[in-house]
Amino acid sequence: MCGIVAYIGKKEALPILIDGLKRLEYRGYDSAGVSVFSGGKIITEKAVGKVVELENKINGRDIPGKIGIAHTRWATHGKPSEKNAHPHCDCGKNIFLVHNGIIENYKELKADLEKIGHKFSSDTDTEVLAHLIEEYKKQVPIKEAVWRTLAHVEGTYGLAIIDRNEPEKIFVARNGSPLVLGVIDDGYIIASDIAPIVRYTNQVIYLEDGEMAEVTPCGFQVTNLKRKKVEKEISKIDWTLEEAEKKGYDHFMLKEIMEQPEAVENAMRGRLVVKEGMAKLGGLRDVADSLRDLERLVIVSCGTSFYAGLVAKYMFEEYAGIRTDVEFASEFRYRKPILNQKTAVLAITQSGETADTLAAIREAKNKGAMTLGIVNVVGSTIARETDAGVYNHAGPEIGVASTKAFTSQLSILALFTLFLGRQRDMSFVMGKRIAEELAKVPELMKKIFKDSQKIKKIAKKYSGSSDFLYLGRKYNYPIAMEGALKIKEIAYVHAEGYPFGEMKHGPIALIDENFPSVAIATRDSVYEKTLSGIQEIKARGGKVIAVATAGDKSIEKLVDDVIYIPKTLEMLTPLLSVVPLQLFAYYFAAGKGLDVDKPRNLAKSVTVE
Ligand code: M6R
Repeated sequence: MCGIVAYIGKKEALPILIDGLKRLEYRGYDSAGVSVFSGGKIITEKAVGKVVELENKINGRDIPGKIGIAHTRWATHGKPSEKNAHPHCDCGKNIFLVHNGIIENYKELKADLEKIGHKFSSDTDTEVLAHLIEEYKKQVPIKEAVWRTLAHVEGTYGLAIIDRNEPEKIFVARNGSPLVLGVIDDGYIIASDIAPIVRYTNQVIYLEDGEMAEVTPCGFQVTNLKRKKVEKEISKIDWTLEEAEKKGYDHFMLKEIMEQPEAVENAMRGRLVVKEGMAKLGGLRDVADSLRDLERLVIVSCGTSFYAGLVAKYMFEEYAGIRTDVEFASEFRYRKPILNQKTAVLAITQSGETADTLAAIREAKNKGAMTLGIVNVVGSTIARETDAGVYNHAGPEIGVASTKAFTSQLSILALFTLFLGRQRDMSFVMGKRIAEELAKVPELMKKIFKDSQKIKKIAKKYSGSSDFLYLGRKYNYPIAMEGALKIKEIAYVHAEGYPFGEMKHGPIALIDENFPSVAIATRDSVYEKTLSGIQEIKARGGKVIAVATAGDKSIEKLVDDVIYIPKTLEMLTPLLSVVPLQLFAYYFAAGKGLDVDKPRNLAKSVTVE
């Protein structure tokens, strides 16, 4: 939530900051703001809405300066407005800062500061930081003032701070919200993630919780809470700028849907050994023996990644014989989870920064469980904090609605099933069969894209509908939920995802001619039962769009519209059945002119609880 970017070096800061904000915009777009050191002053501009509104406000005005900080906001404390937009400053207008995270004890701090005369100009939690630094600066230099401030606050932060009296420095600090420092030829760019950095450099330094960096145009020094210098390693990032751009598509979401065959290939590359019916997962090598003894897996994740976890439950239990529980990360940490030495906790997360998932992993670690991760963003907090894991290699996912990360997660979960299964009872023949079918998935996905225009037409036909019921059984039950989530989040349409068998226990009451259903009716072990469910809807006048297996002509007589997907192994069906649902939601929303990449009220990575 929220994106911060800062620059210090020899170039003009403003264009770098604005470009950086645009690349971070998927983290939040309620308001944007920038502060630049310019001619001995700090010039600040803010605007409500997307970064383009900030650009319009600046309107080509030259704000020369080689140091600056900027922010794109996802509102938590205080509604989206100019006064609540970052950067925030102190009473003396010397200290300006941008913040990603939440200061939980801001109310008490604010009350104390007000008692001693500080005047606040916003409703945010963030502003207390500027006033606290101002207060401490009366006694100690700025760096120590920042440390004392941070020692006082509870909560999370990724912070960038400039002080009018220290015109050659930026201070950045991290606790619970990510912060990456990009090392470029003539300076440094610091951001919430690598998106604004990749166009300048692939050399980065990941700050850890409790670390602060003092950055000047010529160097930086990282210290920890004990004020001790920390030596940092430079890491290399492997995402390119091209991967993060739209490549001619109208939206990132459509580009990312179309990239799925490649994302699945990349997830399998060097890992799927078809001949041996095996998966080789380098990231799990060190824990392979412990995994052999594992009796239970608990998957913790959120949103789309949670649905990937639900699919995994079917895979792991059916083919690896491992009891698997899937939990919303936000619930797991507040329960009393029962974990033991034979239980591993697996986080599935695209961003690797989701606060709830991170907290769940930390809780699991506290309880002594082995922690594993399936993470897309290399070097992200969850990737670094888990004991072992597997990277997706899906490339940057910019659209707020997750698409290619999901099918990439499913591919890795299928590999993980092979890995765990072959450690246990799975035969070579079964392993080979799964591996062969998995290897075919990218080509099968491409076949679905041939029907894109048909799916677009169906989306148009139903564009007047304001409610949908998405239904699926077994492996496709999580896909029904994912389909419903996609259309909810990007088209603002009410949709419910349900296990088909549950429909008759309540939701069927919703059905009438104006309440269409999307039924996943592939030819699998529950096909006949699914057909019965469809009959029940039709008997009540409901319209049905079916996702069916290629060649199933008979279903056309039963339903109103059919989208076909190729035949595959039942456990791999979700990798295909989700694709038409992504396209349906995309065309439905894009057809209404909605901003599908940046749906209202949402942000790509949810770094607040
Ligand atoms: O980065 P993560 O995978 O941890 O994110 C989890 C959810 O926030 C995410 O999947 C969210 O539900 C997406 N908007 C879904 O499209």
